[in-house]
Amino acid sequence: MSLTIGAVILAAGEGKRLKLNAPKPLAPCLDKKLIDFPIKALKNFFSQNKIDGKITAVIGHQRELVRPYIEKHHPDIAFAIQEEQKGTADALRSYFISHENNHITNQFQYTLVICADTPVVSAKELTEMLTLITNENLDGVAASFIEKNPKGYGRIVREKKGFHITEEKDATDEIRKITEVNSGLYILKTSYLLEHLKAIDSNNKSGEFYLTDVFKDGLNVKAHCFPNGDIFLGVNTLSQLEDAEKALRIRKKNELRDNGVRFIDSSHCYIDSEVEVGEGSVIYPNTFLTGKTQIGKNVVIEMGAQITNSIVDDSAKVLAYTILDGAHLHTKASAGPFARLRPGADIGPEAKIGNFVEIKKSVLDRGVKVSHLSYVGDAFIGEETNIGCGFITCNFDGLNKHITKIGKNSFIGSDSQTIAPVVIGDDCFVASSSTITKDMPDGSFAISRGQQTTKEGMAKKFLKKK
Ligand code: UD1
Ligand code: CA
Repeated sequence: MSLTIGAVILAAGEGKRLKLNAPKPLAPCLDKKLIDFPIKALKNFFSQNKIDGKITAVIGHQRELVRPYIEKHHPDIAFAIQEEQKGTADALRSYFISHENNHITNQFQYTLVICADTPVVSAKELTEMLTLITNENLDGVAASFIEKNPKGYGRIVREKKGFHITEEKDATDEIRKITEVNSGLYILKTSYLLEHLKAIDSNNKSGEFYLTDVFKDGLNVKAHCFPNGDIFLGVNTLSQLEDAEKALRIRKKNELRDNGVRFIDSSHCYIDSEVEVGEGSVIYPNTFLTGKTQIGKNVVIEMGAQITNSIVDDSAKVLAYTILDGAHLHTKASAGPFARLRPGADIGPEAKIGNFVEIKKSVLDRGVKVSHLSYVGDAFIGEETNIGCGFITCNFDGLNKHITKIGKNSFIGSDSQTIAPVVIGDDCFVASSSTITKDMPDGSFAISRGQQTTKEGMAKKFLKKK
């Protein structure tokens, strides 16, 4: 029989110290919200260890905002309501008496408690805690770590057998010197937790019911000290939020590096959690890869590139200061420097988008070149067509957008415009500086430009006399 665990995320607190215009669980963290991280860690932990159980979020403060967010993004999470935020032990009591959960929470063999504000904790640490409590048949384990500046954390006070936790406010000067601190992550036998939860009072400096009081000297409990404290960074202030985001990014970049991605200087690369990058790719500094971006193998991403919700296929190149948003760059294609690919830009294999080119909602086939200073919107351009410098698809009549179609192997001279809707066929030639308003059949040539008049000797009339 597999283990049964009830996992509780404490997310009812107010988070005053964060000074954000949002409840703490919904504080932004990378491309997500703070609460998404413990949920993901728990889901991974459950699936990796084939655990039977349920994840419940204890919500309270601004639950009218927190609940719909969780319901939308994680429909399998249960809720318990803590009406008044009277402390972490009170939050656990709410969990056990919650009407939504009542029938099961006290029947799980173990209860795992995690705070909503420790986003760096992953399934790995949770598994380590589970292994310890089962292997040593303990009643409870608290995860601890060494913190040089322990201010604000509960201190781990170790005894011959067992330990207890003293909160900063209640600590003597002697205890405040202890640098081993409580992480807020616990796993307990549910029967033990229920028994000791009953007795917890609020006789302390904050008048709160502390969950930490379930750990007592002389009992069969352990504080398990993790060597890398960064994992348990608690986000109470904006400065800690920044530190947590940094730690999450470092972890992401380490994973990518382990899979063969090379960074020139990873400390200045900002990569969201769901971004994928293939082996052999190189990423320069000052780059942002965000949202659901997928980068293939052997891709080069130069400095200043900003890639959001886009796909870059194998061996493509995103040159310096190029922006991709909802775009697809196919294999061996290149964009930039200074190009902007907007939503729906689909750049075919080996195509080349050069500097100061903007592409929106357009499909460019294999080998198309738009090398300099152009705008292409609502267009289809066929294979191997070459677009000269300064080309514009005039797609908007002030009311509606219209489509431009250009066939394959055509040549569009520099400084030309197409007034959409218009169709240019295959193998066409548009002379430089033309405005194309009428369709062109395959193989045709078009020129539309003002006639030149040259008057000999007349220039001096306009030139300043020396
Ligand atoms: C808590 C621990 C402390 C530990 C630290 C680690 C207690 C008493 N203290 O302190 O030992 O070092 O975490 O980061 O547990 N919450 C509720 N309901 C409440 C109060 C809090 O759901 O009534 C939730 C909060 O939303 C938060 C979590 O519990 O997610 C921890 O609360 P917080 O106020 O941040 O506790 P700390 O002071 O950080
Ligand atoms: Ca906290």
